[in-house]
Amino acid sequence: MSSSSSSLILFFFFFLFASTFLFTSSNSFNITEILEQNKDFSTFNKLLSQTQLASTINSRQTVTVLALSNDVMSSSSPDRSTDEIKNILSLHIVVDYYDIKKLKDLKDKTVILTTLLQSSGQAKGRQGFVNATVMKNGDVEFGSAVPGSILSAKLIDSVASQPPSISVLHISSELPIMIDLPNDSPYKSSSPLPAQPPGDDDYTYDEPPSPPSSAPAASATASHGKSNSTNGVAAISSQFDVAFAVVMSSFCLFMKVW
Ligand SMILES: *[C@@H]1O[C@H](CO)[C@@H](O)[C@H](O)[C@H]1NC(C)=O
Ligand SMILES: *[C@@H]1O[C@H](CO)[C@@H](O)[C@H](O)[C@H]1NC(C)=O
Ligand SMILES: *[C@@H]1O[C@H](CO)[C@@H](O)[C@H](O)[C@H]1NC(C)=O
Repeated sequence: MSSSSSSLILFFFFFLFASTFLFTSSNSFNITEILEQNKDFSTFNKLLSQTQLASTINSRQTVTVLALSNDVMSSSSPDRSTDEIKNILSLHIVVDYYDIKKLKDLKDKTVILTTLLQSSGQAKGRQGFVNATVMKNGDVEFGSAVPGSILSAKLIDSVASQPPSISVLHISSELPIMIDLPNDSPYKSSSPLPAQPPGDDDYTYDEPPSPPSSAPAASATASHGKSNSTNGVAAISSQFDVAFAVVMSSFCLFMKVW
């Protein structure tokens, strides 16, 4: 065998294995399988798949799903279009990792979470943001971040968590998409929402643009630490993939030549 054809084969196997392993390692969780463990979330799970939100969730490096049980889902209006369902479910998918501990440890006891509805470009004003607040009694409550909204959903428990990538939290009721009246918004005149490119995975936005009150700081440091560590993990795992691919392709080449 000439040396040029053997290096061609080596190249072929290198790319075969490199692509296989890089592809699989980018999906370290499957929301459909996580929710299948618990029958109470079967409706929510089915709708995530139907709206293709399941694959959006799986493609993220960090995500928190605010899951609704079947009895809550069955009490919601039956005549919603697929687009409406997709928008409502998108408001239940936070583009950052929050488990119970991280919520309860919030320095300011409250945080504005960015959801997939915001990255979809379908949201007006603050519709795509969720307010999570730790109450005096220690309960965590969620509501729309649109000014004047109430915190209508309670954190019930954690369904699953794989830090630092995915957390699934069971909440008591559906978060409504509130109408954001520009005149009512304290953020409107002074600071419009920053532009956010749809589908930008590394974009995390945990706090109001330039809040008039004292909300901010705590979450900013949290998200910096996170992006730093996830990048490190990604770099290590892809180096491992390449090394593995080289070993495997050399092995295959050896078998072939032999
Ligand atoms: C996730 O799991 C479901 C059910 O097992 C499967 O149909 C789907 O293809 C999986 N998705 C990925 C990206 O592996
Ligand atoms: C979240 O809502 C509560 C109750 O309405 C409010 O006190 C708190 O300031 C809000 N949090 C943020 C970060 O705006
Ligand atoms: C990662 O974060 C640590 C502390 O949070 C910091 O000291 C370090 O410089 C960061 N590394 C990178 C590559 O950003």
